[in-house]
Amino acid sequence: MNSEPVNAYKNLMVTGGCGFIGANFIRYLLKESDFSGRVVNVDKLTYAGNPENLADIEKRFPGRYIFEKADICDRERMASLFDDYEIDTVCHFAAESHVDRSIVNPDAFIRTNIVGTFNLLELARETPDRLQLFHHISTDEVFGSLGQDGFFTEETPYKPNSPYSASKAASDHLVRAYHKTYGLPITISNCSNNYGPYQFPEKLISLMILNALEGKPLPVYGDGRNIRDWLYVRDHCIAIWEIMKRGKRGETYNIGGKNEMENIRLVEMICDILDTHQKQEGGRPRRELITFVKDRPGHDRRYAIDFTKLREELGWMPEESLESGMRKTIQWYLDNQQWVNRVRSGEYQTWIKEHYG
Ligand code: NAD
Ligand code: DAU
Repeated sequence: MNSEPVNAYKNLMVTGGCGFIGANFIRYLLKESDFSGRVVNVDKLTYAGNPENLADIEKRFPGRYIFEKADICDRERMASLFDDYEIDTVCHFAAESHVDRSIVNPDAFIRTNIVGTFNLLELARETPDRLQLFHHISTDEVFGSLGQDGFFTEETPYKPNSPYSASKAASDHLVRAYHKTYGLPITISNCSNNYGPYQFPEKLISLMILNALEGKPLPVYGDGRNIRDWLYVRDHCIAIWEIMKRGKRGETYNIGGKNEMENIRLVEMICDILDTHQKQEGGRPRRELITFVKDRPGHDRRYAIDFTKLREELGWMPEESLESGMRKTIQWYLDNQQWVNRVRSGEYQTWIKEHYG
């Protein structure tokens, strides 16, 4: 294993850095990692983008953290950002990320996930002398659904089932093609379901924690027996940085938690942990809030990741178990009531309008 960090990146553009994983990644990079350059965070600030996720970082790292509100689909604007900041590295998170929204309204998914990625690749291709790496963040959903056995490896054929996963698959193919055709230095990571601090409360874990705290129904789709492989977000961030530093150009790496669980068991686990923190009024167990609802169309049954390649090549392993990561996550939501209230009430969007128009 090569342990020499490639730390020549000076001007790193992170797209989608105000979202859940992007914000955690920037926090990790500046507070914990050996990265010594500056981060230019480019985010359109959709409903999922919240600059408050990085308010303390902006104060603590003036000069090393820069925020630019911009749409990756706006080629001209992106071109000037590439030039102005002499971007030499890209870590591309920006995407429409929620499967349910993609089923109701796929347009934005096609635009941002495919056309936006294409724009960035074209701009990266225009600066061959400067560009050191284009790292593309993707998902295990591109592989489709597993049966009861087996795991997704880097060799698993793509078989996406939702407009979201199809748009991510398209973007992965473009990134790979730019390496093969133009020699663009790229890496791709395909990760399983993340959870942790700053997750917008529309995804299973964040939604269930906040609904359960508020005594609201906990909607479980179908029979609740779909399985996801959960990864604590900081573990994902560590993996991304390791791949960016030491991953082989042109390669893809799977990232997973080795934490498979049926949705219904996960929701019960959240209820039980919350009950030990603070009882509901009347002492009733939160499991009573669980409500089975209509299934998601095309709902993938099971995801599970084989991350042998990442472990063997780069020595990465997840640090958190589902139990330890879940306890940290719940504690974070309990300790950050102001963040929760502003996101739940939509106040963060009013603030964005006032500051950024
Ligand atoms: P998120 O929805 O929380 O954040 C997405 C961010 O992208 C937001 O800040 C949003 O404002 C920004 N954005 C959207 N459209 C944009 C545009 N046109 N221009 C610029 N910025 C734009 O998403 P997330 O959960 O943090 O996911 C980040 C990335 O990781 C995505 O590419 C997603 O496909 C991938 N991923 C997510 C998971 C997961 O479990 N959440 C797992 C694997 C991979
Ligand atoms: O696997 C990686 C993917 O994980 C990422 O690429 C996506 O960006 C991310 O959104 C996530 O996709 P999922 O569809 O797996 O995550 P979600 O949290 O929406 O749903 C997880 C499981 O829980 C899924 O089986 C659907 C179910 N579910 C979800 C919600 C929001 C419910 O039963 N009830 C709910 O209210």
